[in-house]
Amino acid sequence: MKTVLVLNGPNLNLLGTREPAVYGSATLADVEAMCVEACARHDFALDFRQSNHEGQLVDWLHEAGRAQAAGTLAGAVFNAGAYTHTSVALHDAIKGTGLTLIELHISNVHAREAFRHHSYLSPAAKAVMAGFGVAGYPLAIAGLAQMQG
Ligand code: DQA
Repeated sequence: MKTVLVLNGPNLNLLGTREPAVYGSATLADVEAMCVEACARHDFALDFRQSNHEGQLVDWLHEAGRAQAAGTLAGAVFNAGAYTHTSVALHDAIKGTGLTLIELHISNVHAREAFRHHSYLSPAAKAVMAGFGVAGYPLAIAGLAQMQG
């Protein structure tokens, strides 16, 4: 059974209390439970992580790239939060590892402030999802399942 890595970047630990009008009332623990269920449905194991630190996220992407190359990881779903709009390092990590990665945003970033319209991740991502709320997480896992040979 292959694993799916669901990676969350800065401030996503605040889900549930952070700007509920934008991000909803589900907590990150609720999102993890949704991902557990989606992975079980698609015969994946789940590795669910969150960090507020860019370098930690880079290290985890490298680890995921090695796992995918070894055949144990199906791919990653990544909500990089604000680093989406700032981080060349995350772009390079995705490119450098060749990881199959779905960029995910809870909100529709294109309907928000102009500074959220550019993503450093999108050119390195296999697919991009935004605006489904937290329901996007299980949908992205279903998408990864679809991508498997
Ligand atoms: C986000 C959108 C980003 O612009 C923002 O900085 C986040 C969350 C989303 O899930 O909608 O932290 O990635």
